[in-house]
Amino acid sequence: MTPATPIIQLDRLHKRFGAIPALKDLSLSIPAGITYGLIGPNGSGKTTLMRILVGISRPSSGTAAVLGRVMPDRETAKVIGYMTQAEALYQDLTVEENLRFFGRVYGVSGAGLSRRVDEVLELVDLAPRRKSLVEELSGGMRRRVSLACALVHQPRLLILDEPTAGVDPELRIQFWDYFEKLTRTGTSILVSTHHLDEAWRCLRLGLLREGELMIEGAPDALRAEAKADTLEDTFLYFSRRRPT
Ligand SMILES: Nc1ncnc2c1ncn2[C@@H]1O[C@H](COP(=O)(O)OP(=O)(O)OP(=O)(O)O)[C@@H](O)[C@H]1O
Ligand SMILES: [Mg+2]
Repeated sequence: MTPATPIIQLDRLHKRFGAIPALKDLSLSIPAGITYGLIGPNGSGKTTLMRILVGISRPSSGTAAVLGRVMPDRETAKVIGYMTQAEALYQDLTVEENLRFFGRVYGVSGAGLSRRVDEVLELVDLAPRRKSLVEELSGGMRRRVSLACALVHQPRLLILDEPTAGVDPELRIQFWDYFEKLTRTGTSILVSTHHLDEAWRCLRLGLLREGELMIEGAPDALRAEAKADTLEDTFLYFSRRRPT
């Protein structure tokens, strides 16, 4: 692996579920240290791609590599943080107990774990609620705990599946401020979203439709290519066009 090794490299990646082609011939290289946005309608393959990247699902053909290692790869999985679309917290444990649990799953323990728990609680502004049971928290607070759990082992790649779904506008902005903070310290982020205002904050974007990568690039470059005023119009333009 060299410093220029892409954080994510897809090579002719296909995934089928029976007769359903969920990902079709995806090839893509994402440089390290940026926030990369995945957008596309329901069922376009965003979650399927993320599950392959974290190593919990296998491609039908082709490869998905993280930091130069073809997934699934046990060692590489340890440097990935994954916030799932559905909530994956223990409701009957406290915020802190959830964080400690996920930390230990990723091999963090002892004083290192205690320090990280404090740090991520500060990052997501939940230090005062560390002793609260997750079931007693609001939906937005639970999203923040989920993000904190994905971060507790200081992953080099953070994969976030619609982290701001159902989150109020103020917290959405806060989440994106966290993401900027993380990329400044060298974390790479792959994030899916249905909010195009958020997509603007990504350095690069990929648009999936029916498992195909329709277009990818920097938001401004895509908008210029589509000769559109807004990102909405940009994506309508590209999603109606055949992939290049
Ligand atoms: N475990 C599975 N078994 C069968 N089909 C699946 C499975 N997982 C995903 N699919 C199918 O793969 C396609 C892509 O689904 P996926 O969940 O990746 O979409 P998505 O882009 O994440 O959508 P959303 O925006 O609704 O979250 C869909 O047609 C879906 O029904
Ligand atoms: Mg999804």
